[in-house]
Amino acid sequence: MPDQSDDHNREPVELPLVTNHNTARSALTCRYRCGDACSHEAPNRSLNPYFGDVVQQSLSRRGMLKGGAVLAIGATTAAAATVAAANPSSLPPMGPLLPPGLRFEPVPPNTTDAVTLPPGYEQQIVLRWGDPLLAGAPRFDARRQTAEAQAGQFGYNVEYLALLESPGRYQQLVLVANHEYTSEQIMFYGYDPANPTREQVEVAWAAHGMSVVAVRAERGSGRIHPLRGDVLNRRITATTPIEFTGPAAGSPLLKTSADPTGRTVLGTLNNCGGGVTPWGTVLSGEENVNQYFANAGAVTDPLSARRLARYGLPTGASERKWERFDDRFDISKEPNEPNRFGWIVEIDPYDPESTPRKRTALGRFKHEAAEPRLTRDGRVALYMGDDERFDYLYKYVSTHAYKKGTGHAAREHNLRLLDEGTLYVARFTGDSPGGEIDGSGALPDDGAFDGSGEWIPLATGSTSHVPGMTADEVCVFTRLAADKAGATKMDRPEDVEPHPRTGRVYVALTNNKDRGAAGKAGADEANPRNDNKHGHVLELDERNSDAASRSFRWRLMLVCGNPDDPSTYFAGFDKEQVSPVSCPDNIAFDEGGNLWIATDGNALGSADGLFSVPVTGEHRGHVRQFLTVPRGAETCGPIITGERILIAAQHPGELDGASAEKPASAWPDGPGTIPRPSIVSVWAERGGSR
Ligand code: FEO
Ligand code: CA
Ligand code: CA
Repeated sequence: MPDQSDDHNREPVELPLVTNHNTARSALTCRYRCGDACSHEAPNRSLNPYFGDVVQQSLSRRGMLKGGAVLAIGATTAAAATVAAANPSSLPPMGPLLPPGLRFEPVPPNTTDAVTLPPGYEQQIVLRWGDPLLAGAPRFDARRQTAEAQAGQFGYNVEYLALLESPGRYQQLVLVANHEYTSEQIMFYGYDPANPTREQVEVAWAAHGMSVVAVRAERGSGRIHPLRGDVLNRRITATTPIEFTGPAAGSPLLKTSADPTGRTVLGTLNNCGGGVTPWGTVLSGEENVNQYFANAGAVTDPLSARRLARYGLPTGASERKWERFDDRFDISKEPNEPNRFGWIVEIDPYDPESTPRKRTALGRFKHEAAEPRLTRDGRVALYMGDDERFDYLYKYVSTHAYKKGTGHAAREHNLRLLDEGTLYVARFTGDSPGGEIDGSGALPDDGAFDGSGEWIPLATGSTSHVPGMTADEVCVFTRLAADKAGATKMDRPEDVEPHPRTGRVYVALTNNKDRGAAGKAGADEANPRNDNKHGHVLELDERNSDAASRSFRWRLMLVCGNPDDPSTYFAGFDKEQVSPVSCPDNIAFDEGGNLWIATDGNALGSADGLFSVPVTGEHRGHVRQFLTVPRGAETCGPIITGERILIAAQHPGELDGASAEKPASAWPDGPGTIPRPSIVSVWAERGGSR
């Protein structure tokens, strides 16, 4: 065990920002977060079509040059960013007055080990990993962690946050957070990756999952205070019983020796983005679940082996070695257990006794999030990304309409909406007739669209639309169904969010350094940049502005990076005035309809951050940075309300070479402590969130 005698009062070590060869993330993050997904061959080897490197055509057709500026101003912008870092008063001119709520002074790129805000803002740590939630749970003690304690405490690494009303409770709200993954090396003193102990493994199981926490909102500030021991408080972990519902519930593909019915699974893993339904439940996507399983190499049946490979299941041992402590993580012993992860989970935060549900009608893949919108006839549509290089964008449309009201009958009806519907996958083409928007009326900033697209149905209830696959198979092996359907290979679809008023759909595509690599799909119009290090954001306009439509038009909204890079594009906005932005991930809208973008893996040398960007009006494309997160962290879960901005800083200090003994961040507790992923509330000193 490493010497721990004098680790108190140590400053965090200045570790270099060593990164994985394929991304700007630290290799430690790659290992624990997604099982080194980028270091492996992308699992989509289907032959779906693509067409040449087209970024320049796309952008010039879009009139990139509203900023003819694009090629000329680069050096100026980069210089401006550098100077701004030293002297914020030298930030570029702001141009026309920004919309209310966006008039903050942008935060320059930086690598400070803190949450850095514009002048005039305050912050509060709302919840840290390990804070007690349930009655009787002990205070966090980094040196005496137990699974029992952790099961009553706030979990690790929050990706998604939802803040819900708490009817009948004055100044109270319900906060729902998920806990994506654990970073054992920086969580546990004396952690040996080759020989984790049972206690460490069980702490990690308890640190995964979700938390529901009643909170009290302070009047006159953005502070919120968790109510420890409240009856609504709940922890869902990697061992909580969860029910399968929908077409594949009870399928032989979901049966294991512990669950011969195929209807109940223990736990939820790697919860990434999510969404809130109109009926007040919370959805959360199970993402990089492949990494928890071992020994796919033992499977010799060709069909099973092909399915396991398409889902990236490791052929040998897993990183965390959980298979040593529970046979269900060993594919050679329980070949169907991996099929029971990779779903959207729905929880009812108002009923702590309710059983969470994995909704099989929504398909199985590396679910990033699930953001809803009602169709014109009142059904519910969910937009969902599969976050893998060259994987797909999906939509689900329920068969039945949403019923308003909170009565028992309406609630029971609504809780079945995600069990019967049609699952679609997107195909993009670059053949825009250009210019107009179907049925939605003229919006002031409408320019040309870059192309059109269609939603290809994969299954409706128990009816498959994919030749050669049953509906069960479409649900459980959705990626293979989408391969057959000819879906468009995208640059890692992360969060997908419909605009609350226009219904236009914004798709964050975080990056894909393999785009255009030898033997890989090259650039196409919807993924227009080879070696796409910084990602992009697409804007989709559903036909007739109806989320039920089978077709849409789309255009590039942002092509991210440093604005002096000629391949970047900010919806035509003057690039001298925008903040550099890289690797868009979680997105959200504020009450004014402005888009907010949280980043993960900034490849420009700065810490990750949160950015605002109007999507309409004369500031459309005016990206401005609102905050940065501590060293090694990713910005998650943004919620932007009139009172406060909430973010989660996930995996602070997760840099290569870091450990509990050698922390790379002292956030949030200061020198001599290990970093703790935490939720932060931010508000303006003068009141309100901005
Ligand atoms: Fe958990 Fe795709 O981010
Ligand atoms: Ca994400
Ligand atoms: Ca979102």
